[in-house]
Amino acid sequence: MHDPLQYEGRKVVVTGTASGMGEATAQILVDLGAQVTALDIKETSVDVETALTIDLRDPASIDASVAQIEGPVDAVFSCAGLPGPPFGELDTMLVNFVGARHFIEALIPQIVEGGSVGCISSAGALGWQEQLPILMELFARETFEDQKAWLEANQETWGWSGYLWSKYAIDAWVGWRGADLIEKGIRLNCINPGPTDTAMMPAFHELAGKEVIDSAIGPIGRYSTAIEQAWPLVMLNSTRMSYVCGEVLWTDGGFIGANSTGKQGGFGEL
Ligand SMILES: NC(=O)c1ccc[n+]([C@@H]2O[C@H](COP(=O)([O-])OP(=O)(O)OC[C@H]3O[C@@H](n4cnc5c(N)ncnc54)[C@H](O)[C@@H]3O)[C@@H](O)[C@H]2O)c1
Repeated sequence: MHDPLQYEGRKVVVTGTASGMGEATAQILVDLGAQVTALDIKETSVDVETALTIDLRDPASIDASVAQIEGPVDAVFSCAGLPGPPFGELDTMLVNFVGARHFIEALIPQIVEGGSVGCISSAGALGWQEQLPILMELFARETFEDQKAWLEANQETWGWSGYLWSKYAIDAWVGWRGADLIEKGIRLNCINPGPTDTAMMPAFHELAGKEVIDSAIGPIGRYSTAIEQAWPLVMLNSTRMSYVCGEVLWTDGGFIGANSTGKQGGFGEL
């Protein structure tokens, strides 16, 4: 079978392409014959059709980037992210969720029926359902500025970890917003990676301690690589996955399954 994932000639948009999972995703999509528009705050190393600069902390920068993207768009891959400290908690929320949401929403009018959006959340989003009442307050704010104002006014709720709250938000948002988007024929999903060997990992070790991060390794017994996360995301956004929408795919080496069945302790339990 030729082109089994059906990316040849398709127009795709990828954020976070200067490093890690976004870079690996863009490279796979180039190799599969897609027309790739790559965006990052840093220079993109992949040889893509179009490379744009974007700062996901800044709605004007996001809008300027979207204005340079000519539709129709077949698939969007939202991969950019910050780890939390040494970056600020608010910046982390803005890049990982608010800016990503603003970017995706601005592109929706250009996404074809049958198109898709795939985000990267985290296995750290475990337990996101318990935060739903608070997350719904954030989701009710639609503009970037209104969400930022809500975050600034409610720091005591989420400010202890912009990283984990941004991931709770993504998992909840794909279900909530995905329900509307599928009515337009657009699928919205995310992956929840376990610990992955990328440029972000030293920041996690520094903040939480290597032992705590290692406690989130599933029974597979090792960290994943960026490419091992990029492939599931590429598959999730493939037209072959036409019945998969509003879904969270745990790409965590079996962590959630082992955790839920008592085979393994929880995150942070050594
Ligand atoms: N590495 C892990 O262990 C791990 C685990 C679970 C989830 N994740 C998530 O995976 C995604 C990709 O992270 P990664 O591990 O590949 O890290 P990475 O640091 O290698 O890549 C992140 C990319 O985001 C870009 N970025 C940062 N701030 C930006 C901004 N303001 N505007 C635009 N782009 C910006 C960076 O320049 C970089 O290219 C992130 O959402 C991260 O939270 C990572």
